[in-house]
Amino acid sequence: MLTDLAAWKTLSEHYGKIQSVHLRTLFANDPKRAQKFTVEALGICLDYSKNRITQGTVELLANLAEECGLRDRIDAMFRGDKINITENRAVLHTALRAPRDASVQVDGKNVVPDVHAVLDRMSAFADRVRSGAWTGYTGKRIRTVVNIGIGGSDLGPVMAYEALRHYATRDIAFRFVSNIDGTDFAEATHGLDPEETLFIVSSKTFTTLETMTNAHTAKAWALATLKDEAAVAKHFAAVSTNAKEVAKFGIDTANMFGFWDWVGGRYSMDSAIGLSTMLAVGPDNFRAMLAGFHAMDEHFRTAPFEKNIPVLMGLLCVWYDNFFGADTVAVLPYDQYLKRFPAYLQQLTMESNGKSVTLAGERVTYETSQIYWGEPGTNGQHSFYQLIHQGTKLIPCDFIGFARSLNPLGRHHDLLMANVFAQAEALAFGKTVEQVKAEGTPDWLAPHRVFEGNRPSNTFLIEELTPEVLGKLIAMYEHSVFTQGAIWGINPFDQWGVELGKVLAMRIAPELESAEAPELKHDASTNALIARYRGLKRQ
Ligand code: F6P
Repeated sequence: MLTDLAAWKTLSEHYGKIQSVHLRTLFANDPKRAQKFTVEALGICLDYSKNRITQGTVELLANLAEECGLRDRIDAMFRGDKINITENRAVLHTALRAPRDASVQVDGKNVVPDVHAVLDRMSAFADRVRSGAWTGYTGKRIRTVVNIGIGGSDLGPVMAYEALRHYATRDIAFRFVSNIDGTDFAEATHGLDPEETLFIVSSKTFTTLETMTNAHTAKAWALATLKDEAAVAKHFAAVSTNAKEVAKFGIDTANMFGFWDWVGGRYSMDSAIGLSTMLAVGPDNFRAMLAGFHAMDEHFRTAPFEKNIPVLMGLLCVWYDNFFGADTVAVLPYDQYLKRFPAYLQQLTMESNGKSVTLAGERVTYETSQIYWGEPGTNGQHSFYQLIHQGTKLIPCDFIGFARSLNPLGRHHDLLMANVFAQAEALAFGKTVEQVKAEGTPDWLAPHRVFEGNRPSNTFLIEELTPEVLGKLIAMYEHSVFTQGAIWGINPFDQWGVELGKVLAMRIAPELESAEAPELKHDASTNALIARYRGLKRQ
């Protein structure tokens, strides 16, 4: 067990010494602290000096990573070993962004040519739709693309579309439907002309209830105007690993873009699941994003742990989660284009590492994944930052800022970035009671105006948000998640925890729909809720 390792025990002792040391002291004692704890790679600068660590902490965390076999785990993933042991699958999202001449073997076959064959087909399709060469059934240009998917088949596409909107064509509108709530479909298609609408049904399995329900509704919605089944071929494309189900649904497999079982849903936005992204930003920008992913993959694979951005991020998460008991992490991008980035990271981090048994099936005796959440700055400052500054909880923060705005407007960007630096500074150093009183605050009010400080944060400073940078950022978090999973000895690549609710919902659905009152055999609470729902629904 992790907690029995020598490196863990040493870290625990070290934590005892450092837990009450203030960042004010750490900075006062070392004028070079900022330089020492800043790492730069691939144009991403990470200042992690405002963390409650010393050089010794970093060394001990790196020792822990070594003792947990992180190096071997990284090699095993990139090599294509079946590290997703509960599903007997390789984990090779890194192959999705490997250059054309690379070789990545799965079961003795180099998969890179297949990856690029799909990318080439996607590019040809995207070019035709974007140029207007691809027309709908009645000969009109496609003006709106609607991506239907959920989880990894939605969050990545939505996030990337929003993040790269600056680079997107304005000739085509993009909408996203995920929720099984009919309102999502109704609002996303409101005002659209079926003759000018292209649906992309994105689902790895092509069996997901939400996506298939929305896809069937979309088909009915389109055919209500287009009247001819043959129109489906011009208005529907599919992204899936399941050609059989795609054909059964009625989508021409010529319009299907495939991927593979070695790509997890939450790691799939750079596969064909990114078709809507490519349609929006064009094949060149999409490939630039893939190049960014690949550059970060190589950094993660080769950089020594002390200089390895994702490894350092992952280790800091372990440090706060397991030693300081910090249950959550706030991700705070100071860029409006990254407004969906925290939501995207929620699936990536929590569906991956929200596990409570080790690879050997033993119950863990320590905490695993933190809860990720956040909002773009500066909005959060006028909402939940109060709690981060003065509340009773320790919430490590990731601030993400850019040196140049894609929309330079007067003073906006300097003011935005002033807030990034100010927030990190305030969290770390706070304001003592002496400072507060020296400002003339009366004694009774002083405690309310004290900022304890010593609240940790990372600050990422990057030149500009480009497709390449987005790829780097996503891969950075992917590999941080991997690092954490390797330390905790869990499998970040399965998601059995989503199954039970799905099965129960399918049992309950007919009980809500049947004309006759069904015999309910759930617990008393569920039975009563179902009965009440049926009664209210009838009124
Ligand atoms: O909810 C679980 C899940 O399997 C996610 O992991 C996945 O991203 C999502 O459902 C969608 O799955 P699919 O792409 O197969 O429709």
